[in-house]
Amino acid sequence: MKTENTVWHTQQVSKTQRAELKQQKSCLLWYTGLSGSGKSTIANAVDALLFQRQCHSYLLDGDNVRHGLNGDLGFSDEDRVENIRRISEVAQLFVDAGLIVSTAFISPFAADRAMAAAKLSAGEFIEVFIDTPIAICEQRDPKGLYKKARAGEIKDFTGIDSTYEAPENPTIHIDTSDKSIEQCAQQVVDYLIEHGFIKK
Ligand code: ADX
Repeated sequence: MKTENTVWHTQQVSKTQRAELKQQKSCLLWYTGLSGSGKSTIANAVDALLFQRQCHSYLLDGDNVRHGLNGDLGFSDEDRVENIRRISEVAQLFVDAGLIVSTAFISPFAADRAMAAAKLSAGEFIEVFIDTPIAICEQRDPKGLYKKARAGEIKDFTGIDSTYEAPENPTIHIDTSDKSIEQCAQQVVDYLIEHGFIKK
């Protein structure tokens, strides 16, 4: 709980200085989309391209974070809100450290994504909508979860009995149906170059 006895300390080294040392501008690539849409795959491919370019980046992935920091949370609306709140706090710290941060979470609620964006400066929050229709996600079903959800073995499954609010105006809109993973990843890297976050 926040108390009146804690004081915010301003740090001597700024976010800009930390990023300049790494020859980049820090930002947050916030991937959102249904389970099985390709968020983690594309975010990983982007991260690998950034690493090849000697950029300093870090990827926070839904399933991994739910094993540790958010291991106490389930998939009720309330828990999903708390999941995203914690992630956006952590992501903000990583951006402050001068990194190019990626988060790959379903993040189904628009209000929570807006809250994550509000923690950052203008232009730093880059919403990446991995737009894969549910029929395709369900056909891919890489973890067999749609099958379980349809059989009633998993409750509150996104797109089946839990809501997904698609972004109305994402910064980057990726339609995965007619593109390779490499092409999708390149679309994100091109955006970062065009907007001066990384060098050409
Ligand atoms: S979020 O809605 O809170 O943003 P998050 O991205 O962290 O979700 O976790 C989603 C991952 O958890 C899915 O990719 C899937 O592997 C797994 N999962 C397990 N149960 C559910 C469920 N009920 N709804 C959605 N995903 C689930």
